[in-house]
Amino acid sequence: MIRLEDVGHVYAAGTPWARRALSGVDLTIAHAERILVVGPNGSGKSTLAWIVAGLLRPTEGTATLDGRPVDEAPGSTAMTFQHARLQLFRPTVGADVRFGTRLDRVAVDHALEMVGLDPAVFRSRRVDELSGGQQRRVALAGALVRRPRVLVLDEPLAGLDAPGRRLLIAVLARLNREAQVATVIVTHDTEDAHRVADRGVVLRAGEVVADDEVASALEQPRP
Ligand SMILES: Nc1ncnc2c1ncn2[C@@H]1O[C@H](COP(=O)(O)OP(=O)(O)OP(=O)(O)O)[C@@H](O)[C@H]1O
Ligand SMILES: [Mg+2]
Repeated sequence: MIRLEDVGHVYAAGTPWARRALSGVDLTIAHAERILVVGPNGSGKSTLAWIVAGLLRPTEGTATLDGRPVDEAPGSTAMTFQHARLQLFRPTVGADVRFGTRLDRVAVDHALEMVGLDPAVFRSRRVDELSGGQQRRVALAGALVRRPRVLVLDEPLAGLDAPGRRLLIAVLARLNREAQVATVIVTHDTEDAHRVADRGVVLRAGEVVADDEVASALEQPRP
């Protein structure tokens, strides 16, 4: 479905501030596959996430979805960002989830329920009055209502407490099972790796150093 071929990315290419984030990445993501991308700070995880989600066109190589550039297939992919607040644009939760769609309140309420936020309580809440974990769930609800085929989540478990974490893991499992959404989870946090992914990809200094069944991939020596 998604195929990255020899993908490299240099930020600010051609300037004195040029900075290489990825090199020579080959990666395929099949229908409904669940992949965990791990690696140390600065290893290129977020850059890879943006490219897979079609939000960034790589400076080298190609990233395609069913043969077309991923960045030309809006709607097929959705992403939640490492910093959830940056992706909430509307003042209230309901308005934010609905933003840019033609959905009615029923669909919005359903998405809020999916992420464990009671619509009656949260629909009219101001985004700025939510905790970080709640903002992350609103961002996820906003991604879900668009019914993507591929969902890219950058550090989705960061800052969640134990119940929040269990809930998110259950939401992802249900999405994968019922809606057949492929998920790409980018994280440092490998604690629940086997619950959220079948396959693991390890990045180091912008290169893929392991791509295997999740438990085997995570056994690779870490720097
Ligand atoms: N907008 C940008 N402009 C210039 N350089 C950038 C930009 N974004 C990232 N980089 C650089 O690209 C490299 C990879 O960054 P990236 O954010 O993809 O890493 P990461 O693995 O997600 O890190 P973290 O674990 O800290 O989130 C780093 O060297 C970083 O400094
Ligand atoms: Mg990152």
